[in-house]
Amino acid sequence: MTDGKDIAIYIKASEMRNTFAVESFNKMKSFFLFSALFAASLSMTVDQYAIVKTVLDDYFELNATFVPFAVRLAFHDCVGGVCDGCINLDNDSNNGLADVIIKLEELRGDAIAAGVPADNITRADFWSAAAIAAVDRGIKVANKACDKRTAPFCNVPPFNASFFAGRQDCSSAPYTDIILDFPNPTMDAADVFTFFDTWFSFSKRQVVALMGAHTLGSAKRANSGYAGVWVDGEAREFDNRFYTIMTDDAVTWTNVDLVQAPISKNPDRKWEWKGTWSDGSPAGMMLNTDFEMRFDLALNATTAQSGCQVNSDCADAETASIVTEFANDQTLWMNEFREVFQAMMAVGSNVTEVV
Ligand code: HEM
Repeated sequence: MTDGKDIAIYIKASEMRNTFAVESFNKMKSFFLFSALFAASLSMTVDQYAIVKTVLDDYFELNATFVPFAVRLAFHDCVGGVCDGCINLDNDSNNGLADVIIKLEELRGDAIAAGVPADNITRADFWSAAAIAAVDRGIKVANKACDKRTAPFCNVPPFNASFFAGRQDCSSAPYTDIILDFPNPTMDAADVFTFFDTWFSFSKRQVVALMGAHTLGSAKRANSGYAGVWVDGEAREFDNRFYTIMTDDAVTWTNVDLVQAPISKNPDRKWEWKGTWSDGSPAGMMLNTDFEMRFDLALNATTAQSGCQVNSDCADAETASIVTEFANDQTLWMNEFREVFQAMMAVGSNVTEVV
């Protein structure tokens, strides 16, 4: 079962300096042992994927609130070297994912009842299909909203993602007790890029493209301790607004300390950026790790407070021009996001293209 790519991942994991290397290595080890046992498992056909896609599209059409959850789940499933259909809900980094996991269990059951053999649709494959369906829906929501606006961010091109199948679930799917370290908004830019290079072999440009997923959804104090919608009023819309509000001079950004947040589960200091339009209305929210794609925040090593104010005295980050490119060209970003999102969801698995 292990091919050259898998072995490379092993080697890379064994070279990791990070403290989470051991836990992640365990995740991969149990995954590969399990994969070896079930190497003969079947893969999905085009007709079966059509059933899966219909089940998911129908659900997201009526429940666009789940669009951001499904996209976040796909990322969290693939942290640690492989997408294996398993999430540890005791890990605070996964707070907020319980409902979407339960819903996707139900929808996978619907697909199986509609004729897709259970062996052909692992959780990991189903979650990947769900993420694609979620982005498709987010684009439709964005374009529908655009009918009422005449803004340069309208006309979001179709996602046109291919679906790849063949991921293996961990033995306890959809849950696991393996502890992984997820990226934290207190990381500086170097740590963010190291994280994505280590686990996904992504370039800085790919990381900037992938981070645009934060155009969707919001942070909740009860989950992460952070708070607010990334793009105000557009939490279910999938487009390049993550980049446009970051680069729009009409938005003033204030660094806010959430340490006093009354129901924060996590007592460590939490700085985020609140954006306000020139008329005083809210524009959105950014984590430090988001703004680090554009600015060198010179974070305080202890408190993770920015050492400068964005749009005033922060120097450009090395990747600032990429943010501007994506802000100015929706199609360019969508093409690069599609490639990196698919690569993220293929990490550590021998996947084959279904459609
Ligand atoms: C440096 C890397 C990243 C950090 C630090 C980070 C951090 C966070 C945090 C703190 C939240 C809020 C969770 C909550 O309170 O419910 C969140 C939400 C989200 N993240 Fe990330 N994230 C990162 C990368 C990614 C990537 C690569 C993706 C997908 C490709 C992604 C997709 C999402 C989505 C869609 C949400 C919104 C979920 C919702 O509305 O419930 N994130 N992220």
